Amino acid sequence: MKVDVLLGLQWGDEGKGKIVDVLTPKYDIIGRFQGGPNAGHTLEFDGIKHVLHTIPSGIFHDGVSNVVGNGVVIDPVILKKEIDALVAMGVDVNKKMSISKKAHLILPTHRLIDAASEQSKGNEKIGSTLKGIGPTYMDKTGRNGLRVGDLFLPNFQDRYNKLVEKHKQILKFHDFDYNLSELEEDFFKGVDLLKSLTVIDSEHYINNAIKNGKSVLAEGAQGTLLDVDFGSYPFVTSSNTTAAGTCTGLGVAPNKVGEVFGIFKAYCTRVGSGPFPTELHDEVGEELRKAGHEFGATTGRPRRCGWIDLPALKYAIMINGVTQLIMMKADVLDAFENIKICTHYDVDGKRIDYMPYDIVSTEVKPVYKEMKGWKTDLTKLSSINEIPQALNAYIEYLEQELSVPITIVSVGPDRTQTLIRERVLV
Ligand code: GDP
Ligand code: IMO
Ligand code: MG
Repeated sequence: MKVDVLLGLQWGDEGKGKIVDVLTPKYDIIGRFQGGPNAGHTLEFDGIKHVLHTIPSGIFHDGVSNVVGNGVVIDPVILKKEIDALVAMGVDVNKKMSISKKAHLILPTHRLIDAASEQSKGNEKIGSTLKGIGPTYMDKTGRNGLRVGDLFLPNFQDRYNKLVEKHKQILKFHDFDYNLSELEEDFFKGVDLLKSLTVIDSEHYINNAIKNGKSVLAEGAQGTLLDVDFGSYPFVTSSNTTAAGTCTGLGVAPNKVGEVFGIFKAYCTRVGSGPFPTELHDEVGEELRKAGHEFGATTGRPRRCGWIDLPALKYAIMINGVTQLIMMKADVLDAFENIKICTHYDVDGKRIDYMPYDIVSTEVKPVYKEMKGWKTDLTKLSSINEIPQALNAYIEYLEQELSVPITIVSVGPDRTQTLIRERVLV
């Protein structure tokens, strides 16, 4: 069997958690391959709303194994909170989840450095979630990091102390107050719990599973436009959020990758700083934010809102090799008389259909096509055959422009508010 991948095509929060949960019954294993608790993946079913940060979104189903891959960075404090909440709901997390020995640990000092670094950037701050993601990946690539497997080594405490000393030196360069001992108390409580979990060589586990005919879905975090290589650098996260991240983050060879599900909102959002060509600063943007409840699942910050951006989507489809598209939150556009689609950008009077290299300082004006809204409540629909003609026209136009089929249309946050347009290829 191959490993299918589901990932975001915009700036994150496309609805990955919801769709992974919907697709989980078709898979034996769900694996997270990058990012960490900067992610907030929301699932809704049976009147329950749940947000996951580190734990894969297959956790609510029985008979499915959830793997936190080597490419993920783990904060034991946040993981403990997540596990405690799930256990209180009766979910047997330890039975259903395993963690790669090679996943890196987020230390309390990584979080402090993240905060100090953002503070020193002033107006140029990234808008980080302040979860310590950047400093942890820096220590990983700088070959200083601590991994989950290291927790079981006799010299773990020494290695921890050594790295914290290094971090304290870095913090001296910042005008930043902190109280580490309180943070460390929680950290070591989390570490104790983490050591009691199922810790594995996840690359062997996944590859053996594939060999034995098991199906795997890799769950992305963040979105393509936040990728450290291909996103709107430097306003990005610190990992490869794109399909290639599956290979490095789970130990899966490129020829083992099957379907690539690219997920996008029927409009566009971004949380944190950085370029966003179709952002709306007017009452239309406010209407999108209100109708879409666009507030961050991890930080609660209001998300910036705008129209769908085809040049950006085309780029994301190319980078990821997307084979199926999933359109989310169509219902958020229910009340709009007209809907705009950015087809090109205007840069200095020239029309371009790609994101320029220097997107941060180049003034990019979106060129729009307008389509009729459907003015129908989509949230009650139970079959794709019931969708209004205007929505069908919107979907067909996007498919034609993007040259990839839209196989799922989501019309509400609940598991059941999911319309399957074509047979999903799994
Ligand atoms: P993720 O990070 O990609 O998993 O997405 P988030 O959970 O951060 O944000 C998506 C938000 O939209 C969550 O609050 C979901 O409950 C909600 N959501 C998902 N799909 C739909 C949909 O089709 N319609 C509406 N109205 N909300 C949705
Ligand atoms: P999910 O998986 C949306 C954004 C932050 C900030 C930038 C860098 O829920 O889609 P970081 O904490 O990684 O250093 O922040 O990336 N960001 C996200 N935005 N969804 C996410 O995850 C995000 N994870 C990080 O807002 O702009
Ligand atoms: Mg999210």
